[in-house]
Amino acid sequence: MIAIKLGGSFITDKSSYRTFKRDESERALREIIKFGEPFVLVHGAGSFGHILCKKSGFPGTYKGKETQLSKVKSDTANLNALITEILLELGMAPISFSPFYLRRKDTFDYSSVLRSVEAGFLPVLYGDIYIDGNDVKIYSGDSIMFDICNLLNPTDAIFMGDVDGIFDRDPKIYPESQLLRTVKTQQDFNAISNDVTGGMGGKFIAMKKIASLGIRTSMMNGLFPERLNDLHNDNFYGSVIK
Ligand code: IPE
Repeated sequence: MIAIKLGGSFITDKSSYRTFKRDESERALREIIKFGEPFVLVHGAGSFGHILCKKSGFPGTYKGKETQLSKVKSDTANLNALITEILLELGMAPISFSPFYLRRKDTFDYSSVLRSVEAGFLPVLYGDIYIDGNDVKIYSGDSIMFDICNLLNPTDAIFMGDVDGIFDRDPKIYPESQLLRTVKTQQDFNAISNDVTGGMGGKFIAMKKIASLGIRTSMMNGLFPERLNDLHNDNFYGSVIK
């Protein structure tokens, strides 16, 4: 089994509210299915989550902002519906899970996700908001990836983004940046330079934690999903965390 996260910046236009990148998402999902391994899918929220959260002051108290909370919840669910529609068209049997509903007192309860795997379904989890007391908080797809990897022990954890992998500098700002084909788990990005992560600081922490479980963890460009076929050989074009 493999665990795959489709990043929000890959499946949506992150700068434009609720803009779904259908063709790109569909091409990646086709390739993932063609790859032939059973998988668990996780996806981010992109412009279906981050923009309105920021505007509404989330994470933070939701008191007096219940409508905004509902709107974010509805938007993230809508993006998930767009993804599951594609999976259904491609003949899969997806069942969706949001951390909003998996939340228990101080933790997330994934037993329903495990049951859906056992029953032969394709679990689709997504980064979402959840309620904690008077606050609304965000649980990212990257954190979900760690939880799922910890529970299901997949052979691979793959992060598909809109860049080729992890770079020595933010590739969207520095054209001369170099792709790091292998990245050591000991690498402390923040100690080198803040722009090294290209907004990937949190993501890299999640990836390192997954790699330290002994799961092969990689990052690749979802715009070239056929690169997945080289996942287990030296030609793999992306970054592997070791
Ligand atoms: C964020 O999930 C969820 C919300 C903002 C509600 P992610 O952090 O996994 O989303 P991306 O991949 O960064 O867009």
